[in-house]
Amino acid sequence: MKMFSKLTSLAVALTMTLSLAACGGAAKPAETAKPAEEKKAEAAAPAEQKKEDKAGKKIVVGFAQIGAESEWRTANTKSIKEACEKAGFELKFSDAQQKQENQIKAIRSFIAQKVDYIALAPVVETGWDTVLKEVADAKIPLILVDRSVKTSDGKDDLWVTRVGENFYQEGVDLATWVKTNEEKLGFKDKAAVNVYQLEGTVGSGAAVDRGKAWADTMKDSKFKTVKSQTGDFTRAKGQEVMESWLKSDKGKIDLVYAHNDDMALGAISAIEAAGLKPGVDIKIVSVDGVKGAFEAMIAGKLNCVAECSPLTGPKLVETINDLAAGKQVPKLTYAKEGVFPADKAAEVLPSRQY
Ligand code: AHR
Repeated sequence: MKMFSKLTSLAVALTMTLSLAACGGAAKPAETAKPAEEKKAEAAAPAEQKKEDKAGKKIVVGFAQIGAESEWRTANTKSIKEACEKAGFELKFSDAQQKQENQIKAIRSFIAQKVDYIALAPVVETGWDTVLKEVADAKIPLILVDRSVKTSDGKDDLWVTRVGENFYQEGVDLATWVKTNEEKLGFKDKAAVNVYQLEGTVGSGAAVDRGKAWADTMKDSKFKTVKSQTGDFTRAKGQEVMESWLKSDKGKIDLVYAHNDDMALGAISAIEAAGLKPGVDIKIVSVDGVKGAFEAMIAGKLNCVAECSPLTGPKLVETINDLAAGKQVPKLTYAKEGVFPADKAAEVLPSRQY
């Protein structure tokens, strides 16, 4: 059944990717007004032009990363740095410390340095219109990595492609696991299960989609979200929020749904400090699947994780190479992801790469 639903999801994702590709998959950034002949020449051989300009030179990529807020993010940075190095690209890396204004500054600096490609992991979904138009005017192909962007006109022509993760599906998978494992979780005889949600960064694609997925999947079920608060995807804030919930609501909390493992690990520390057993007295599920979460599952402190893969480096490199060779790329590519309950953790941990 699980396999069937995974295959269905894959088929939907593939159809989506293909249909998006068909609707302009190899989209190029918007262009400024130009003489007609020049435009015609470019339309005939845009990639060739690019290769000639850069013949013999290293491809230079500017990467505006979000920060180092989580174990996941550290693994994502490592994956991209290693893949770019292996490909022989020159990588200009910027850590925005989770601030959109720092990412905007980094992008402008990449434009000024005339990099060949810009990769952006957008901390939040909105507020990018102006700077992405500047990138398009500079004719630098922009690749979204990880999270999504929403422009004010709803169009997706300011980036060439997104190499990301399916946050909505991760939330659906985790909520579905919880619903189908209520007996294992000790919820079978409960009329209502009190859920406390630790949200990711407010306005980020990952938090928006994971929140919506959970709400949609749990709609009309006995799983009721009692409180929901941001922990900004960090361990420290996850712990802080959990401490405050334990002060006000100790005894009422049945299940914590954390939008990432780091916040779940922070919550685990708070629960232990309050004299309760995480994973037993309070059940916990989260998203990512980092090694720390697998260790917590093996220790019986975390009940299940939905995977979100940070290993996007090789796909980013492949995409850049394809673009440099003038090939069509899909408008959207998702990483392969699974669901890992605690009783599978010991078996799976040795093969985890992050
Ligand atoms: O955007 C991906 C999310 O960002 C990961 O789930 C989280 O750990 C990270 O900080």
